[in-house]
Amino acid sequence: MSVQCTTLYVELGDRRYPIYIGPNLLHATTLLGDAITGRQIVVVTNETIAPLYLDAVLRQLPAEALVSSVILPDGEQYKTWQTLGDIFDQVLRARHNRSTTFVALGGGVVGDITGFAAACYQRGVNFVQVPTTLLAQVDSSVGGKTAVNHPLGKNMIGAFYQPNAVIIDTATLSTLGDREYAAGLAEVVKYGLIFDADFHAWLGANRVGLRSRDANVLSYAIKRSCEIKAEVVAADERESGLRAILNLGHTFGHAIETHMGYGAWLHGEAVAAGMVMAVRLSAMRHSVSDGLVTELEHLLTDLGLPIWAPEGMSSNTFIDLMSLDKKVIDGRMRFVLLAALGEAVVVDDVRQDELHALIDR
Ligand code: NAD
Ligand code: GLY
Repeated sequence: MSVQCTTLYVELGDRRYPIYIGPNLLHATTLLGDAITGRQIVVVTNETIAPLYLDAVLRQLPAEALVSSVILPDGEQYKTWQTLGDIFDQVLRARHNRSTTFVALGGGVVGDITGFAAACYQRGVNFVQVPTTLLAQVDSSVGGKTAVNHPLGKNMIGAFYQPNAVIIDTATLSTLGDREYAAGLAEVVKYGLIFDADFHAWLGANRVGLRSRDANVLSYAIKRSCEIKAEVVAADERESGLRAILNLGHTFGHAIETHMGYGAWLHGEAVAAGMVMAVRLSAMRHSVSDGLVTELEHLLTDLGLPIWAPEGMSSNTFIDLMSLDKKVIDGRMRFVLLAALGEAVVVDDVRQDELHALIDR
């Protein structure tokens, strides 16, 4: 079978790595086997994804390799220090050494925790991302942010640790639930807002195809999202500047996720409501028009995403939770806002009264 595959690169010097994108890459190529170094492999996945895709992955691995599968419980609430310990227990019991490659097969939860496990195991081993949700394919599998949550804050314990390769089999999206699929579209919308006004217009014009998972529309949306993410990460791998723009809506969104309890709102849903808040705050500061806020609300609604924060979540609750955000420096909260459509900025001069006005409206 001939397979369509687009290859992009995250340009990080001698740590440069490929992102392969195409349908059936897990079934009809040897990309995964080729990305593995050494003869020891740990595939980390969860109990939902294992019955769907674990066999396809295992079939690609060298027959003579020592292979262990670690199957986690499913859910953001398991992205914890405790689960990380469970992974290490299993991997050590199976006597994996430093030549092991960790393969993350799943959505952002599996990808983030597996990447962090790979960063820590014997001070760092190879790892490969095989993302199976739209959110993971357009965002979390690329760029090397790995983490677990802490009860006091999202992604608070983690490391920057890049994969050796990212293999995006777009056919895996066929089994993804509608809610999880829509959550991934939130991050796609983010890229247009922060980086590419033309892409934003294209997303608006193709909202029906996006919602119905039209293969051509989806393929371009994933490719363009990965291109933007790869460009930003290559320019600022460890978020000392530009990379912070990828967090549009995330300061508000993480507060929602923490407040509601991990897993109650999907990450992408919280980001969608958070992006509306960030763009509305930008409009209150006159850098974009009120019309853009309305247009964004319509787009997100058409894509099946929430545009309002959970009822009853007050500005004081938001401010309290946001003061723990990783972007806080010297006690000053920093927000990603829009300087214009397609251009994001990080600001640290948002006043408390602006936040009260924005949130309690
Ligand atoms: P998720 O990993 O929880 O996956 C959502 C659900 O879909 C889960 O129930 C999962 O089992 C299921 N699933 C996955 N693939 C499937 C498939 N192909 N078919 C059927 N079901 C499937 O959630 P997510 O939205 O992928 O990721 C959210 C996480 O990603 C959050 O923890 C967030 O903090 C993190 N994240 C990280 C980064 C980063 O740069 N590292 C960026 C964005 C988000
Ligand atoms: N999702 C934010 C980042 O990768 O920086």
